[in-house]
Amino acid sequence: MGDQRPPQKIRLVRLAHVYYTHSDLEVARQFFLDFGFTIVSDLGDALYFKGYGVDPFVYYATAGPANTFGGAAFIVESLADLELASATLPNATPVEDSAAPGGGKRVTFRDPVDDFPMHLVFGQTLVPKSGPQLTERDYNYPDTKNRAVNKTQRFKKAPAPVHKMWHFGCCVTDFAKTYGFYTTRFNLKPSDLVHDSTGKDITTFLHLDRGMEAVDHHMFFFFEGMLVPGELFRRMVGLHDMCCAGPKFHVHHSSFEVHDFDIQSLDHQWLREKGYDLVWGVGRHVLGSQIFDYW
Ligand SMILES: [Fe+2]
Repeated sequence: MGDQRPPQKIRLVRLAHVYYTHSDLEVARQFFLDFGFTIVSDLGDALYFKGYGVDPFVYYATAGPANTFGGAAFIVESLADLELASATLPNATPVEDSAAPGGGKRVTFRDPVDDFPMHLVFGQTLVPKSGPQLTERDYNYPDTKNRAVNKTQRFKKAPAPVHKMWHFGCCVTDFAKTYGFYTTRFNLKPSDLVHDSTGKDITTFLHLDRGMEAVDHHMFFFFEGMLVPGELFRRMVGLHDMCCAGPKFHVHHSSFEVHDFDIQSLDHQWLREKGYDLVWGVGRHVLGSQIFDYW
């Protein structure tokens, strides 16, 4: 008889950063500065961007022949989690020292279905929160006035300072296999599962199971794009139909948190006036209730 126990889960703590390759790094550099990142390390052919939170970086951009997704990185609870990952995840590297800002140890593995890279990090040195002094505003309502009489609010159109990485999502080629892998090997649980008209699950939004600790609605979502007509998908989950373009794996988007709705709206205007392409927004999602703006 073989061992029928479920595998020990690798304990994820939070999502930290994401890797992309850009065919035009200079265009990417300017966009991300306008978007609201700051550059923490410029290697010439690669850039590390950070927000104003504690993460030493949140976005790595490197130059390459084509625009590609290089995977996202989760912080794990212990060195033992990294060792378990290295020993048991598909095509995992040994536990290695990370040369990225903040250092620490890292393991990279390959998604078992679509072969994209994913990263796990432990022992990063965090940085102090830095950057803008952003106040928590008092909002007035018809029946409740929270702001002192004659207290003004003055705004400037500008990039929205990014606080931290929030979530990312992918179009996968086999939903059931992908779902099985991430929910059995990691402390990831569905906040929402969306099925098609036959009852087959085709989309999920996964949160981190951190016990009684409050966590975001999702850190990682994925969907099987081929089976869902764009219009149906849009009505069900409110995602843009460009995500359902084909059978191939692709990243849908990575998202980053900003301070509040005012800051987000000001950056929206800033990016519009710079001539960037708006994909969708500003709006509010149904399932996770978060306010979005896709560029
Ligand atoms: Fe999102």
